[in-house]
Amino acid sequence: MTPTLRIGALISGGGTNLQAVIDASEAGQTGGQVVFVGSDNPQAKGLQRAARHGIPSFVVDYGAIIRRHRQARETFALPADFDLDEMRAKARLFPPGTDTRKVDAFLETRAAAEAELLGAMQSYDFDLLILAGFMRNLTPYFIDRVNTEPDRPRIMNIHPALLPAFPGTDGYGDTYRYGCKLGGCTVHFIDYGEDSGPIIGQRAFEILPGDSLDDIKSKGLKEEWKLYPACVKYYAQGRLRVVEQTHSLPGGKTLRRKVVEISS
Ligand code: GAR
Repeated sequence: MTPTLRIGALISGGGTNLQAVIDASEAGQTGGQVVFVGSDNPQAKGLQRAARHGIPSFVVDYGAIIRRHRQARETFALPADFDLDEMRAKARLFPPGTDTRKVDAFLETRAAAEAELLGAMQSYDFDLLILAGFMRNLTPYFIDRVNTEPDRPRIMNIHPALLPAFPGTDGYGDTYRYGCKLGGCTVHFIDYGEDSGPIIGQRAFEILPGDSLDDIKSKGLKEEWKLYPACVKYYAQGRLRVVEQTHSLPGGKTLRRKVVEISS
């Protein structure tokens, strides 16, 4: 029997991408099965989707953790293995010059939340973690503890834009307001930046005169529901490899970029 890829999922909201991966997996189309669903948001509707399919779920309430930190930073409990200097050096989530107090508060609160996530995930022996509308940036604290083998990235994200255009929290809104004639979605591996990791797959759609933001979101989600299961399937088939490419640029500069090769 072919081994089944064990998929964990993190969500924050409605979970329609989660549903697409569950449905495709149950239909035998991904080569995997979703073994847990975690959320940063106790109200996430997607948690009910997990329950309907008998998939165990858990919540780590990021909002409550952030409030605790704001109220009493001095007594805020950090994970025993948290190293602030290491995190400051690795994270690429803030532009240079960002107020260090803001960066530190972000790294401390997220690491505390991420330690709880890791604790909850520990009982599931998962191969791949998919972020399916998970609206929290992950820090190197979490990423390094999931990606334990350097050549085997294990965290995928779906983003509602054709990256590298429009990273951030409102990909379709940014696409709409910019006046783009094409929109799209991207599945990529997570790295230490925001929506900056190696791209696995993309799908595009046309934006027609008169399309509203809601039209764009609805066209985009339909593409996402096809793209995410397809990328998970590539992963299950062992067809994805991250390689570093080197390019010579005019002026003698060199560009290095990690990209995904998909074998046939
Ligand atoms: C999707 O459009 C997804 O691409 C986006 O949130 C939506 C979640 O919908 N993700 C991000 O913006 C991540 N930065 P869903 O909960 O119905 O899958």
